[in-house]
Amino acid sequence: MGATNIHWHGGIVTREDRARALNMRGATIWFTGLSGSGKSTIAAALEKELLIARVPCYRLDGDNLRTGLNADLGFSDRDRTENVRRLGEVSHLFADAGIVVLVSAISPLQADRDAARRAHQNDRNGPLPFLEAYVKAPLDVCESRDPKGLYKKARRGEIMSFTGIDSPYEAPNSPEILLDTARCDVAECVATCIENLRSRGVIA
Ligand code: ADX
Repeated sequence: MGATNIHWHGGIVTREDRARALNMRGATIWFTGLSGSGKSTIAAALEKELLIARVPCYRLDGDNLRTGLNADLGFSDRDRTENVRRLGEVSHLFADAGIVVLVSAISPLQADRDAARRAHQNDRNGPLPFLEAYVKAPLDVCESRDPKGLYKKARRGEIMSFTGIDSPYEAPNSPEILLDTARCDVAECVATCIENLRSRGVIA
């Protein structure tokens, strides 16, 4: 049961005030894809490039947040939806603060990713850019990479409800960014993201 009698306090500073004073413009790139598709690798490399260009940025990695904020959540459909909801709310706050947020989470369901997008679009001070980046690699490629040995465990029945094996993954309907990691290396994927941020005026 949620709280009642809550009143939003708008503050004095507008988003434009913040952007002008701090020279920061927030946005979220939301990397979605199978385990082992390359989401975290690309996000980490992009973070490094953005910082070199002095763009304030921050990664919200699904695995990492599951050690803290989301430590109470497992991998049922319900828990994944809640995981993605929290990532959506936190990324929205960071983006509103003027940071380029790099979310990397399997986030298997389109409806949950759409809800994260809405959290950005429906901000009281106007929409914040939300770029869905589909980190695309066929299941057999992800499985052959198996960087954490989790596909092997899932195939042996040691992990249940593993995405792509016995839990669904819905590819994005119309992602803003497509990163085909079976064909492109990390540097090319990073360049695609930077170009996208530039063309949308998020970064100079
Ligand atoms: S999500 O589906 O809720 O978005 P999230 O990205 O936070 O998932 O976490 C996925 C990570 O948890 C994987 O990279 C993997 O390391 C680990 N993991 C452990 N169990 C599972 C599972 N059953 N399915 C998918 N990933 C799992």
